[in-house]
Amino acid sequence: MVEVFLQWRDDYLIGVEELDFEHRDLFARLNELHEELAHDADRARIENCLGEICARMAAHFALEEKFMRDTDFPEYDHHKKEHDDFLEVIIDYAEEIGSTRDITKRDELESELQHWIIDHVTTSDQELGYPKERTAGFWKKVSGSIFPKDR
Ligand SMILES: [Fe+2]
Ligand SMILES: [Fe+2]
Repeated sequence: MVEVFLQWRDDYLIGVEELDFEHRDLFARLNELHEELAHDADRARIENCLGEICARMAAHFALEEKFMRDTDFPEYDHHKKEHDDFLEVIIDYAEEIGSTRDITKRDELESELQHWIIDHVTTSDQELGYPKERTAGFWKKVSGSIFPKDR
C-alpha cells in the first residue's frame, strides 16, 4: 500500500455541493495515478489514468465556469485563465509521459498536480463558495443546488 498522495481535508470544502463532490473525486483520481506510478504500471494504464484525469479536470473546469457565469462571479476571466493554463500544462505532461521513459517527468508531473490542485482549491476556488462572513447577495446567491434553473 502506497502512502496517500493527496489527503482530502474538510477545510478544502467550498460549500457548493457539486463542486465539492468533484474536488474530492479529483483528489481520488490523483491518488489513483500516484498508485499506478508508484507500482510502475505499464504505459497503457498510466496513459489511461492520465487521460481520465485530463477529461475530468476539463469537465470540472467547465462546470465551475458555468457556475461563475450563472452567479455573475466578478473574477471570471482570471479564474478561467488559471484553468486554461493548467489544463495546457497537464496535457503537455500527458503527451510527454506517453512518449518517454524518463522517470523524472513523472515526478515533475506529480509535484505539479499536487501543488496546483491544493493551491487552486484552497485559494481561487474558495472564492466561489459562500464563506459565512460574506453576506448573502455579495454576488447572486443560489441556494441549494448550483443549477436550479436546469432542474
Ligand atoms: Fe475547482
Ligand atoms: Fe477553479
